[in-house]
Amino acid sequence: MERNSKIFHCLTAQQFSREFLHEICDLADRIRDIARTKAGMEYLSSILNHKRAMLYFVQPSTRTFLSFYSACQILGIRCAEVRDPKTSSEVKGESEEDTVRTFSSYFDFIIMRHPKANFAEKIAQLLNKTERPVPVINAGSGKDQHPTQALLDIYTLRRSFSHRGGIDGKSVAFVGDLLRGRTIRSLAYLLAKFEDVKQYFVAPPEFQIGEDILKYLDSAGVNYEVLTNFKKIIPHVDAIYMTRLQDEWDAVDGTKARFDLEHYSLTEQDLPSLKPDAVILHPLPRRQEIAVEVDADPRAMYWRQVRNGMWVRVALVAMIFSREKNIVEYYLNNNL
Ligand code: CP
Repeated sequence: MERNSKIFHCLTAQQFSREFLHEICDLADRIRDIARTKAGMEYLSSILNHKRAMLYFVQPSTRTFLSFYSACQILGIRCAEVRDPKTSSEVKGESEEDTVRTFSSYFDFIIMRHPKANFAEKIAQLLNKTERPVPVINAGSGKDQHPTQALLDIYTLRRSFSHRGGIDGKSVAFVGDLLRGRTIRSLAYLLAKFEDVKQYFVAPPEFQIGEDILKYLDSAGVNYEVLTNFKKIIPHVDAIYMTRLQDEWDAVDGTKARFDLEHYSLTEQDLPSLKPDAVILHPLPRRQEIAVEVDADPRAMYWRQVRNGMWVRVALVAMIFSREKNIVEYYLNNNL
């Protein structure tokens, strides 16, 4: 397969340039415009209807799995899935590496969510050395990366700030379990590509963002602060990115550490202190860290993030298979 020089594997947030981020966001905008009509949907579903995808999700997922599934459907791609390794020959002792290499024999690309950090990168390197080096998309790996979530977060922020000069110059507060939240880590890398974006990391000390991210931000000259008091920062930021306690990692970490969730939750009572044009984000799923009553506030963007994820993933898959030109041509030819 001919490789798009802009993207082949999608493995880490650091791989994306600012130029790429704008291109994928523009493409997602065009795709959603095309998708407004039956003819447009029919066109989109013809673009990659000769391709097949494997969704290998051995960690739970609702949004990422279904949005990739829907994205493939929109592009006419047929999908297969393994979500429970007990249904594959891994139970007979086959290694995960051999399992995924087997997928590459049958499918044109692999979308994977895996509990091990760097697993997608390892698989991409392995496949690169075989006769079937199919694209690998990291749909969440360990506690380290969730690059496609970060793409949809950037897309949501870009749309939210489209009448306010874009993402440049804005301030973003990340709140909650930052130590084990892979979405935060990937988005911190991407926000570093924008000009004068200030990042606040708001968490109890034992749940703070990893030193590796802070080191990266230092090397990129990014302005950031590490804080514990959430309520104090609310009036000062343009975006609040809430996250839940990631306690599914407790057994792996051997930790029972907890924090007072009330101090790191956004409630209806907090809304008057938010800037009138601020936005509230959350990768979801949520627990109590955003009260359900907040959903009705026009600044709440997390349900839009869910939908935006599908459009960005359509754009991502289209780019991996070098179909961005076809989409732009259809868009222009139909005066959209
Ligand atoms: N945001 C996210 O990754 O959600 P899921 O775990 O439901 O895929």
